[in-house]
Amino acid sequence: MASMKRRAFLGKSFSAGAGVVSAGPVSSFLKGYLTPGSDGITRTYLDTKRTTAPIDRNLFGSFLEHLGRAIYEGIYDPGSKLSDVNGFRKDVMDEIRGMGVPIIRYPGGNFVSGYNWLDGVGPKQDRPTVLDKAWNTVNSNQFGTNEFMTWCKATGTLPLMGLNFGTGTAEQAAALVEYCNTEKGTKWSELRRKHGFAEPHKVKNWCLGNEMDGPWQIGHMTAAEYGAKADDAARQMRVIDPSLNLIACGSSSPGMPTYLEWDRIVLENCYDQVDGLSLHRYIGNTQEETGKDSSKYVAMNLTMDRQIAETAAVCDLVRGRKRSSKRLWLSFDEWNVWYRARSGDDVNGHAKEAPHLLEEVYNLEDALLVGGMVNTLLRNADRVKIACLAQLVNVIAPIMTNSSGLYRQTIYYPYVWGLKFARGKVLNILLESPTYEVSGIGAVPYLDIVGTYAQETNEVALFVLNRDLARAREVEVVWQDAPPSAVTGASTLTGNDLKTFNGFDAPQRVAPQDLPKPIMNKNVTRFEVPARSYTAVRWRL
Ligand code: AHR
Repeated sequence: MASMKRRAFLGKSFSAGAGVVSAGPVSSFLKGYLTPGSDGITRTYLDTKRTTAPIDRNLFGSFLEHLGRAIYEGIYDPGSKLSDVNGFRKDVMDEIRGMGVPIIRYPGGNFVSGYNWLDGVGPKQDRPTVLDKAWNTVNSNQFGTNEFMTWCKATGTLPLMGLNFGTGTAEQAAALVEYCNTEKGTKWSELRRKHGFAEPHKVKNWCLGNEMDGPWQIGHMTAAEYGAKADDAARQMRVIDPSLNLIACGSSSPGMPTYLEWDRIVLENCYDQVDGLSLHRYIGNTQEETGKDSSKYVAMNLTMDRQIAETAAVCDLVRGRKRSSKRLWLSFDEWNVWYRARSGDDVNGHAKEAPHLLEEVYNLEDALLVGGMVNTLLRNADRVKIACLAQLVNVIAPIMTNSSGLYRQTIYYPYVWGLKFARGKVLNILLESPTYEVSGIGAVPYLDIVGTYAQETNEVALFVLNRDLARAREVEVVWQDAPPSAVTGASTLTGNDLKTFNGFDAPQRVAPQDLPKPIMNKNVTRFEVPARSYTAVRWRL
């Protein structure tokens, strides 16, 4: 029943986010935007002493759920010639290690709300095969908590563990924390040791449930009920390990009827016990969200800037009412494009193992929007400390596998540029850009630009989304302190057809191209970004 409700909801009203965004001047929620000058040139003023926030490495985390072929076949495939002795796909591990994904959320998602973590630990031959009611999929439980911890270590990433707040009790959630983090001498830590893991896993970051505001969620409850349960569970967990970072479930989308009210009531109940609040967002080029208008679609990341500002405002409202000295941070622990594989057989596993679910094929325009979303996260790095591209392998993912290998979807590239090049601090750049009008959003700058500065390497990076679908545009960078000494990299993702996508047969149809190196003239650099493009340029000072 719960899964029926969820599927109906996913298919119908889930993409209603844009409906709540009303028109207004872009500057009301876009940081660092100046009214453009009369010469129509896009100009960015940059001073490495002027920064907004350090970039938390966890800003570009990702997500692996027991869903479709993400875990089974995706990262764990003991029968494959590509797997190691643990059954982990070596090519997939190499890819993720190479990307440098810092943190990965697991095991769900909707899945977690019906998951009994005890089914997935202990001798493999004793683990039960269970029907997951979130996605109507059979789970052999051959991959569970300890396998995930081992995989994380081997892949060079950290776990962001989700807890079952649907069918699970606060006591069971606290038991998992004890199982993972207590060294020895207690019921659950001794069970872990009996399972062959003498050392604690020391998991720092925990999500207190998943999307508990959603009627599709197993165990869905009211905000007051959830807030009280989160408070209770968090108190128990802090006895086990006071150093945890605990993240409460915020609204799962701005399209929810309870958007922001949910967040307020939850926090009224558990503010003192938690450190962060989650928010989620999936965007699609649908009739309902964008009227299938690509020029609106590539501006939709600005509605995510707005969502962050509104959610942060609720956190601060509750903080003020409580006279608390603590400022919550935000965990944007699910974000991506997702609208094609979102209903019917794409979300129903029909009681099979590792079915093909949510296997969205991403095109160039999706990648441009994902680039915009990367910029939004960077722009809000003062408040967003964890964010997870949802998801990582096979399920709404940048990496797709089959039995003989993998390929990179279009969205891989902007995400990886954020991961690799956004280092140090976010620059408080000032941007002048001509704008165009978008219904429901207002005046949208053609160019969306974010800059970062890493003192250790003395490098500046600029991330530029050109939303102009018809024309290349010139960017002028005004170096207000010191001009750079060299360009260390300049790549762009573009193409003639916004609907082009990659596949096993053509894995490089959409791939980065070199951009002609920008020319310096005293303290001004000029370069051109192609129409329909996302670009990363790096300089050494
Ligand atoms: O990422 C896919 C699903 O989207 C997750 O399971 C859920 O949390 C969200 O609705």
